[in-house]
Amino acid sequence: MLRHTLVVRKNINSSSLLETKNLESYYGPIMALKGVSLTVKQGEIVTVLGANGAGKTTLLKNISGVMVPEKGDILHFRDNIEGFDTDKLVLKGISHVPEGREIFPLLSVEQNLFLGAFTRNNNPEISKDLDVVFSYFPILESRLTQQANTLSGGEQQMLAIGRGLMSRPSIMLLDEPSLGLSPILVKEIFTILKKLNKEQNLTILLVEQNAKAALDLADYGYVMELGRVVMDGKTNDLKSSKDIQEFYLGAKEESQLTQRRWKNRKTWR
Ligand SMILES: Nc1ncnc2c1ncn2[C@@H]1O[C@H](COP(=O)(O)OP(=O)(O)OP(=O)(O)O)[C@@H](O)[C@H]1O
Ligand SMILES: [Mg+2]
Repeated sequence: MLRHTLVVRKNINSSSLLETKNLESYYGPIMALKGVSLTVKQGEIVTVLGANGAGKTTLLKNISGVMVPEKGDILHFRDNIEGFDTDKLVLKGISHVPEGREIFPLLSVEQNLFLGAFTRNNNPEISKDLDVVFSYFPILESRLTQQANTLSGGEQQMLAIGRGLMSRPSIMLLDEPSLGLSPILVKEIFTILKKLNKEQNLTILLVEQNAKAALDLADYGYVMELGRVVMDGKTNDLKSSKDIQEFYLGAKEESQLTQRRWKNRKTWR
């Protein structure tokens, strides 16, 4: 049963790894988050869906310390972490793979991966982790000395995720990893994410516009619209929701959907 609510999951249990509560965030006068509450439990994959400009990237930026929220709380194992520096949050186990990958283009694959371990100084441990990354992304090992900007889009995404893993995160925030990739590559990367979740106990908060891939991967989903959460539920329930099917899983082009929604004045609320 879906809950169309602005307040997230009640009965939050002790296994909650990350929570945001009524988060408000601005770009100058523009209010991009209008009270966003969500919960990510330990070991879960949670996805946040939403159209362009819904506030998904802003949400991740607030959680990872790139932006400081105006109001609200961000809890990591029940400790308030809003306003913390990104470095401190990486040390706490929060890794952010940003929109557009943001790898260091002129550095090699190896240098990019080592930079992911910048908060650590135990070299034998770092080498071991490098081997773990290579076991999930063997292509990176074969491209170790290659300059990052000469990798394909899919390889760059793998490098961005691999670099994120090098900080030994307990939770990875992923911003549209499918962007610009072929369906086959999306499938490949999402399969690896599932394996990382199962085998490395990596909790994942995944922002996506590719609703089908994200709902297939995740356990729980939130839908954002204009800075608010307008729907949340288990992904199996979301997949059978008419609204989700109409706006996110339909075969129609996004432009047609937007137009139709506008004409009908249909809203999530
Ligand atoms: N640097 C910025 N300066 C001003 N406004 C911004 C800035 N970045 C985002 N916004 C605005 O904040 C709102 C939320 O943007 P955000 O990038 O979080 O959306 P999104 O859901 O990630 O969209 P997309 O799917 O296109 O990546 C939008 O209205 C956007 O125009
Ligand atoms: Mg975005």
